Amino acid sequence: MRSLAGRHLLWLGDFEPWEIRRFVEVGLELKRRYYAGERIIPVLRGKSVALIFEKPSTRTRVSMELAVWQLGGYPVVLNANEMQLSRGEPVKDTARVLSRYVDAIAARVKKHETLEEMARYSSVPVINMLSDFSHPLQALADVMTIWERFGRVEGVSVSYVGDCGNNVAHSLLLASVALGAKVRLGCPREYRPDARVLRAAEEMSAKSGGSFEIYDDPAEAVRGADVVYTDVWVSMGQEGEAEVRREKLRPYQVNEELMRLASRNAVFMHCLPARRGEEVTEDVIESPRSIVWEQAENRLHVQKAVLALILGGLS
Ligand code: CP
Ligand code: NVA
Repeated sequence: MRSLAGRHLLWLGDFEPWEIRRFVEVGLELKRRYYAGERIIPVLRGKSVALIFEKPSTRTRVSMELAVWQLGGYPVVLNANEMQLSRGEPVKDTARVLSRYVDAIAARVKKHETLEEMARYSSVPVINMLSDFSHPLQALADVMTIWERFGRVEGVSVSYVGDCGNNVAHSLLLASVALGAKVRLGCPREYRPDARVLRAAEEMSAKSGGSFEIYDDPAEAVRGADVVYTDVWVSMGQEGEAEVRREKLRPYQVNEELMRLASRNAVFMHCLPARRGEEVTEDVIESPRSIVWEQAENRLHVQKAVLALILGGLS
């Protein structure tokens, strides 16, 4: 069996279902220990992690910096605009130089290919903190949150409506089917997931017993669901398509009317930041069904699990 130690985390398609489950189990365990008073678990003592940001961030920026620190390591936070990268230094050179200083490189990038190139040239693990293709750390926190709420992920009906071709939808689909959820996606045809993600989700489902279906009609996607998830219609970098996207995705708004079709105990999820009045209404995100703050919190704990398993000698 392959170990998680030393692996790159670029997208969940590179992982087996049991490996994805392991990240989440350790996340739950580290959260329990945190609330039992173990604020510092120094498995990264003497190690450092570069955290590179090519795009804005609130949750990832703070939770990754604290995750490294709470594991006894040192986070070096780098705004890409202030690096030589912004003056044309090649990604491959940056990756080789940073590898000589730090024990891992985590990056939020505009193009997923940048991460792939970093991984090719880096001699230390590269961790995706969001690209245009995937957001694996978010999805690990999401399935951890579902696990906490329902006591399991297996058999839970997870519906995602809106832009099913974005980073968050791609990663949620893979993480959910890996843990045995029944996923339903509701989106216009032009905003369906990438073919590579669909292939990976099929392979993952065959191994895990999870399943997924895609619908044009948001009502069909949501009927009877345990979880209703959405994300912004215009992701970072898609500002030029904003008007068309808002027009096409309007029927997929998560509002009270749509939520009424879900199961009586259904929860609402969103990776945040949210655009109230676009993909979700104020009343839904502020309702008692909304577990968006738990999701945001779990980023910290599951990222500690990822760092501990990839870098910290935990297995
Ligand atoms: N959900 C998420 O990744 O948030 P940030 O963009 O604030 O990091
Ligand atoms: N899909 C969104 C997620 C932000 C956390 C974006 O890429 O902008």
